[in-house]
Amino acid sequence: MIIVFGSINVDMIFPVDHFPAPGETIASKPHEISYGGKGANQALAASRLGGKVALVGATGDDDIGNRMLRHLRREGVTTSGVAHLKDHPTGTAIITVDKTGENQIIISGGANLAAAEDQIPDEIMTDSNILLMQMETPTDHIETLIHRADENGMRAILNLAPAKEISLEALQKLEYLIVNETEAAFLAEQHGIENVGDGNDEDLIIAIAKKLGIKCILTCGKKGSIMSDHNGTILNTPALPLEAEDIVDTTGAGDAFCGTFVAALHSRMYVEEALKYANIAGSLACTKKGAQSSYAYFQKIEEIYNMLYPE
Ligand code: RIB
Repeated sequence: MIIVFGSINVDMIFPVDHFPAPGETIASKPHEISYGGKGANQALAASRLGGKVALVGATGDDDIGNRMLRHLRREGVTTSGVAHLKDHPTGTAIITVDKTGENQIIISGGANLAAAEDQIPDEIMTDSNILLMQMETPTDHIETLIHRADENGMRAILNLAPAKEISLEALQKLEYLIVNETEAAFLAEQHGIENVGDGNDEDLIIAIAKKLGIKCILTCGKKGSIMSDHNGTILNTPALPLEAEDIVDTTGAGDAFCGTFVAALHSRMYVEEALKYANIAGSLACTKKGAQSSYAYFQKIEEIYNMLYPE
């Protein structure tokens, strides 16, 4: 089973021509309300790839929280580990998406900030399960979970999104760390990791992987992903070659990548193959509006995989 400890948000998406400058008021096209939160998004992406997934986190005891969980259950995600908190609202994200599909996101964490590591019992922290986390739930609970996973021989994977400070000791116990370019730069700054060589993306992820002594994956948008192991051995994987007009909304593309990657690994694919699936899922997520609403099912991802990588 894949256990996702993470956030559950209602996403309010505002399509705009351009992002407002400080002090500027702009009009949006009609806004949409959809289901999001990096934890819920990654759980759904993993489930759509065929993984057995349990989401652990928290919502308010409100209508929108209940609706989002019903939707996840219909998609096969187990939600019995999600707390319904009376004194907190469900997390909310205000998302503006511009004409090029780029986004800006503001989050009000709500119940996500009260999600607790002890919602995951020791009995399911085993070596046959994988733990997947992001940074929209409290960092001290994420660190504790990483240590608990390590003690129990459980594989733990962290997507450092959004970028926040986290201890080196916890990071060194992960199996994989997944970051985008902004998160990688933040992490390097926090832990004094120097980007030697030409200072390019490859050098940066190699430096991070060597410092942490684990496998690190850098997602580079249109350029695909770069993985480095602790020795600095690199694996480049391309994204789908999308035209500018195919890119509708990049919201949640990183979550599609992470959920798909972990589900592929859990299904015992080799990492090379898992990264190809993840890049296809992440690219496809940019071609439709919203986060969860843009995620492809296994069949579609596999169809493209077989076309790109015939045996
Ligand atoms: O990664 C995209 C997600 O970030 C959105 O769904 C939003 O809820 C925020 O968590």
